[in-house]
Amino acid sequence: MEISKQKIVLTGFMGVGKSSVARHLAYLLGCEQIDLDDFIVKQERREIAQILETVGERQFRRIETENLQKLLQASDVPILSLGGGTWTIAENRRMIKKYDFTSVWLESSFEHCWQNIRLSRKERPLAKNKSEARFLFDEREKIYCLADWHFIVRPGFTSFDIAKLIAEEIFCII
Ligand code: S3P
Repeated sequence: MEISKQKIVLTGFMGVGKSSVARHLAYLLGCEQIDLDDFIVKQERREIAQILETVGERQFRRIETENLQKLLQASDVPILSLGGGTWTIAENRRMIKKYDFTSVWLESSFEHCWQNIRLSRKERPLAKNKSEARFLFDEREKIYCLADWHFIVRPGFTSFDIAKLIAEEIFCII
């Protein structure tokens, strides 16, 4: 596949670094990237946490799917970073495939993700405490692993290191 035609979505648990890997990758490839959560915030004119807390998770997932479809359809942006739950919805996975996006799972240990969740300024109502987050993490592993590619975020790897690996392996840019 030509480099210019390759389109990817980044998935993985909250705190794994999807958005920063997407930003570094876009820089390395000289292209645009969009974060689905940021897009939803702009469209809905409220924060993700606010949406989740006011309309609940089920309705949030519908909003998420609608916005994902808009981005996939427009498809002029080749790098999309998803929310941690986006890939867990079968309809979203079907759409991602249908629009020819390659899925990339950023895999990491729970402790690594939890550390980032704790340090981050982003509010995450579905990971309010460690045991809740751990439960989700364990439940989702088997769904994330359905992605086309896996990149393991090892201790000491930065988002830039991961972006470089993706650029080399998927986009064949050395
Ligand atoms: C969610 C992850 C969040 C955000 C929302 C729900 C999830 O995105 O979409 O709070 O269900 O895992 P990040 O993965 O960027 O934190």
